[in-house]
Amino acid sequence: MRWSEGVRDAGVLWKLLRGMPGGGSHASRLDRFYAGQAEHYDAFRERLLGGRRELIASLDIRPGSHIVEIGAGTGANVAFFDAARQRDCSFTLVDLCTPLIEQARRRFADRANLSVLQADATRLQMDRPADVVLLSYALTMMPTWDAVMRRAAGLLAAGGQLAVVDFYLLGSDPPPACRARHGALQRTFWRHWFRHDGVELDQRRLQRLLDLCPQHELSEHRHRLPWMAGLSVPYFRFVGRRAA
Ligand SMILES: C[S@@+](CC[C@H](N)C(=O)[O-])C[C@H]1O[C@@H](n2cnc3c(N)ncnc32)[C@H](O)[C@@H]1O
Repeated sequence: MRWSEGVRDAGVLWKLLRGMPGGGSHASRLDRFYAGQAEHYDAFRERLLGGRRELIASLDIRPGSHIVEIGAGTGANVAFFDAARQRDCSFTLVDLCTPLIEQARRRFADRANLSVLQADATRLQMDRPADVVLLSYALTMMPTWDAVMRRAAGLLAAGGQLAVVDFYLLGSDPPPACRARHGALQRTFWRHWFRHDGVELDQRRLQRLLDLCPQHELSEHRHRLPWMAGLSVPYFRFVGRRAA
């Protein structure tokens, strides 16, 4: 790692160590948390948030599809779609947080097939159904995750895909579809570690996805975190399909 990368990481790490601010609305907490790290967000999250490229590569996307990312942040995930899909699909990126959405607006100012929408995902309205709805490390940061999930599924066109990648922790009674096992010690450690930054790890979100989309593919993984002495955190990739 170069000196300049270390200095840049130090700023983001400092924000993470201070944690999610308290008080105010969910939107204002997000704004205060991401202010000051939005500029370096992508480089740091590239190493923190695993499996995004693989999830997107696994999707079955036809030319001309409408792709909606909810909780899109700076829009970094668009780069994981291949060049043809970036050209011939239309994208709608939705996020609530002002510093991150400003980065996305700057990044895609010249893209006619991409719109950036600042909105609370809980109340999201779309005038066109989506062929893909992507939620990448977003549900664990959303207190209203259940409503967001139902809204996301409701946006899908017939045959559309709900694609989710996120951290999770399985309790002592995991869903039968899950193979991984997470002991009490790691559950306690990771739950507290992430909660400090406003990220809730549990099995309820995955359980709800499995119930919501009986037709799905699920894979479970671990990702090594930067600056964490080789420790790895569990995450899953999920693709559910709305019946055609
Ligand atoms: C960990 S970031 C992930 C960003 C991006 N999806 C990625 O993979 O890099 C979680 C995002 O969810 C957004 N978010 C949290 N609650 C939201 C809500 N209620 N409505 C819309 N976006 C929300 C945050 O602002 C943040 O950008």
